[in-house]
Amino acid sequence: MRSHAAGAKVTAPIPHSSLAMSSQPRRVESQHTDKGYVPIYTTAVVDQPWADYTKTEHETWATLFRRQREVLKGRACREFIDNQERFGMSPDAIPRFEELNEVLMKATGWQLVGVEGLLPELAFFDHLANKRFPVTWWIRKPEQIDYIAEPDLFHDLFGHVPLLLEPVFADYMQAYGRGGVKAHGIDPNALVHLTRLYWYTVEFGLIRQDGGLRIYGSGIVSSKGESIHSLESPAPNRIGFDLSRIMRTRYRIDTYQKTYFVIDSFEQLMDATRPDFTPLYRELDAQPAIAAGDVLDGDSVFHRGSGEGWATDGDV
Ligand code: PHE
Ligand code: CO
Repeated sequence: MRSHAAGAKVTAPIPHSSLAMSSQPRRVESQHTDKGYVPIYTTAVVDQPWADYTKTEHETWATLFRRQREVLKGRACREFIDNQERFGMSPDAIPRFEELNEVLMKATGWQLVGVEGLLPELAFFDHLANKRFPVTWWIRKPEQIDYIAEPDLFHDLFGHVPLLLEPVFADYMQAYGRGGVKAHGIDPNALVHLTRLYWYTVEFGLIRQDGGLRIYGSGIVSSKGESIHSLESPAPNRIGFDLSRIMRTRYRIDTYQKTYFVIDSFEQLMDATRPDFTPLYRELDAQPAIAAGDVLDGDSVFHRGSGEGWATDGDV
């Protein structure tokens, strides 16, 4: 998940972890954010140390790849699967960024750049605004197959990269980056509102396709449990996309989402987000936030969640 919380305070460095096996990602600081302490890494762009990936790391990729492709049959939107195939992603080995970049450059002009992990907000926005997608170069350990709190190579590559081949979606990502740079210059609250949009679209979005709901959000497609939960569980709400409604809606970082928002098409997403958000941010400042699980009168409800199993502690 790309989380970039607003109003973050930089605190003292935290010790290096042993997340990587081939070598160490370098954490430079941690930020106390609305999500607790989040490790932040150097802004350096690094070459993918492809030759250093171990057999175990390639196997972790293979296991996750096979398992997710099976789960995503009939669940992921068609562009997601088609584009993974266009890239030639397979369980055989961790893909090389260089090879993916050849396909990507021709299609949409985007490039993947290797990074150590989550970036400070402005650095992240600047990459997107310039059609660079930062990909964490290291992959999770075998014992983290089912869950890892921070984004790793599997989440970033398997989850985010396929839709960068989709022209309209790729443009949305760039527009988001530019919008992020702008929101950063407005105030922390503008960033809170913009981050919710990213969360409920890029990370946890659903799309209407072929007469049913399909997944396009990267946080969902890279999780076996949430791929099933988001579409089939009676617990969560599934509500039609509504820009200002989404920007007011808090979210979950440590449990499945209580609400998923559904778009009709990537064009709808692009069109709805084209206007300048500056006046919208000002209006939103005067309105209260909405709890992650709330359903409002004006919502276009595909499914009203049963709320079963919901945590009662705070949303972020
Ligand atoms: N139109 C938005 C703005 O002004 C930018 C944006 C586009 C943000 C797409 C997110 C997604 O600020
Ligand atoms: Co992500």
